[in-house]
Amino acid sequence: MDKIVSLCKRRGFIFQGSEIYGGLAGTYDWGHFGLALKNNIKQSWWKKFVDSRRDMYGIDAAILMRQEVWQKAGHVENFADPMVECEKCHKKFRADQIVSEASKSSDISCPECNGKLGEAKQFNMMFQTKVGASEDSSAISYLRPETAQGMFVNFKNTVDVFHPKLPFGMAQIGKAFRNEITPRDFLFRQREFEQMEIEYFVRAEDWEKYFEYWKDEMMEWMEEVGIDMNKVHDIEIPKEDLAHYSKRTVDFEFEYPFGQKELFGLAYRTDFDLKNHQLEYIDSETNEKFIPHVVEPTFGVDRAVLALLLSSYSEDKKNGEIRSYLKFKPNIAPVICAVSPLLKNKPELVEYANTKVFAPLKTEFGRVVWDDNGNIGKRYRRQDEIGTPFCIVVDFDTLTDDAVTVRDRDTGEQERVKVSELIGFIKNKIT
Ligand code: GAP
Repeated sequence: MDKIVSLCKRRGFIFQGSEIYGGLAGTYDWGHFGLALKNNIKQSWWKKFVDSRRDMYGIDAAILMRQEVWQKAGHVENFADPMVECEKCHKKFRADQIVSEASKSSDISCPECNGKLGEAKQFNMMFQTKVGASEDSSAISYLRPETAQGMFVNFKNTVDVFHPKLPFGMAQIGKAFRNEITPRDFLFRQREFEQMEIEYFVRAEDWEKYFEYWKDEMMEWMEEVGIDMNKVHDIEIPKEDLAHYSKRTVDFEFEYPFGQKELFGLAYRTDFDLKNHQLEYIDSETNEKFIPHVVEPTFGVDRAVLALLLSSYSEDKKNGEIRSYLKFKPNIAPVICAVSPLLKNKPELVEYANTKVFAPLKTEFGRVVWDDNGNIGKRYRRQDEIGTPFCIVVDFDTLTDDAVTVRDRDTGEQERVKVSELIGFIKNKIT
């Protein structure tokens, strides 16, 4: 984890939130390359689950919603973790984490100072805020702890406008906020993060069929995006641990360096949410009125990034030196190719590289960088750590043969490619 965290900072992927003031726990800021990686993940998800389907409707709902949404959804009452406070140092911890991390029950004391822990209390994880200038309780609102409710509250709008036939789904990508008692493990447990969620509406009798269907779809996408499937395990959540809205949940857990823990989840939410919001569906053919049931595949964007970084991080030995690189698939990599003039103080190389190589590649692929900093070896190391699949170098031969050297990130092998064929060559490799 330390290697990943420091690479992410060094190469401009992810920074601690509010870093210059000492950091704000559970928040991260995304740098240029991290953002590109995150956007590629979100695009791949949207393409597979929305754009390529006929039964999915996108939505981008407001983060702030009326407090009734969270009352009816059961979150005001139930969205809580058990919290304990040390009687000596007054630090607060999640009670379930302390119990699972203690080797025996007699070890259950403050992990920081060994002091006595007080009674466990329920701590609601929603961030509360007030909307408008009024101070009374009607102004209370919450930052959404899941994107799901933004879809349920737009169920009627979607049905009225698009008249979808069951089964159909709604999809949303957006921020979610949870006031985690102990944010930790880098992107794994944050207070502000992003989710990609689907609410798939089905007839009650069909839920099991679609539960299995979405399990397969989820695994297919994980593999497509490049998550190491040898490290993913589907785990049936025991009845006593189910969320308040779920009748069945399967978690996809990932083998992180800090343990095997949840990556994504699949829940059967029954008609819990639509019933509580008093929403119904009318079958246009039979006029039958009923409340659909919901199968919910949910994906944390940040955990997807973390699992992908951990799946892609590799080390090998090149010229007697250890080199680290990120083995991203080209469609997910933040940068597709880097262009360099062999020497940055030779105007004829710079001019050629800039106008005949960099400019057309940039127009075609967008995710192309210019890199002339340091010697070629240093540039390769840097691009390897960013996960750039191809480094293209313009050298003195280029000026006479109109060909460039293309180096492959994973093998380090180099081949000469005609400048006129370069776009086709790269396209061929990335599709
Ligand atoms: N709508 C259902 C729902 O929100 P969840 O299991 O509580 O279910 C969904 O959250 C996903 O959001 C998780 O599988 C995980 O990927 C991500 N997630 C949850 N809490 C998180 C946190 N504190 N930091 C980062 N990601 C988180």
